[in-house]
Amino acid sequence: VLEVITSEEAGFCFGVERALDMVLEAAKKNDALNVYTLGPLIHNPQVVERLEKKNVKVASSLAEIDSGIVIIRSHGVAPEVLAKARAKKLKVIDATCPYVKNAQKYAKRLVDEGYQTFIYGDEDHPEVQGIYGASDKKASIIGEKEDLKSIELKAKVGLVAQTTKSPESFREIIDLIATKVKELKVFNTICNTTDVRQSSAKKLAEDVDIMFVIGGHNSANTTRLAEICTVTNTPTYHIETAAEIKKEWLSEKNKVGITAGASTPDWLIREVVQLMNEENKEVNVESTENEEEKE
Ligand code: F3S
Repeated sequence: VLEVITSEEAGFCFGVERALDMVLEAAKKNDALNVYTLGPLIHNPQVVERLEKKNVKVASSLAEIDSGIVIIRSHGVAPEVLAKARAKKLKVIDATCPYVKNAQKYAKRLVDEGYQTFIYGDEDHPEVQGIYGASDKKASIIGEKEDLKSIELKAKVGLVAQTTKSPESFREIIDLIATKVKELKVFNTICNTTDVRQSSAKKLAEDVDIMFVIGGHNSANTTRLAEICTVTNTPTYHIETAAEIKKEWLSEKNKVGITAGASTPDWLIREVVQLMNEENKEVNVESTENEEEKE
């Protein structure tokens, strides 16, 4: 019989769940209006498909939207994008995660207070672009600690981070700057759901015989989770849906661990758990049949 354990913080984080609720609510209330998300709400093809069925369209830029409602996803956008949307007379629903809003607010505050401000994050990531925009484009983005080598630091330095960065790597950046400047003001804008999700997935992977990591193949955070679990040497499968599971993977396995990326909805996780329960039923039936044969 398979024992199935689901990891802590598997699936939607608070910010993504909130954004999805806001989109669904907007779609329900505004049947007649065009409802768009600015960029895909999350990197999960099954969710995107569900939203399409509810008539929520994805626009890659404001230029594609002439009228209706535009929803800002949890990553947030630069203030100028919000202003442009309002100038176009679009109704804006801002589903930026409040933690991302904080990072934006602190970057702006540091710049306004005269700090040489850095955003530790991936330059191409929309969240980082939003934080950069919020700093009136006055902050500098550093992708890794090596980037600091070519920068002349001033006496007063300010620092924020992309919410999904790892605390260890942030600490390294802080240490590097702190020893070189007179004053360093840091806002810890890292959201700990990513860290909790990763460390609990690793702990679970160490304790089970097989690990399923559920989430879009195009989701960076799900792929990262799968990498972390693979390192434990427990057979790990990155799957999008329960349909991808092959029965032979489960042969001679007793304990199954399940985790999921921040963009994976509960219903996809439940489907996998359900499939495991069905496997258990089949095993029970088989073993009863065997007993009958013996009699
Ligand atoms: Fe917000 Fe943290 Fe999720 S910043 S969008 S709750 S990962």
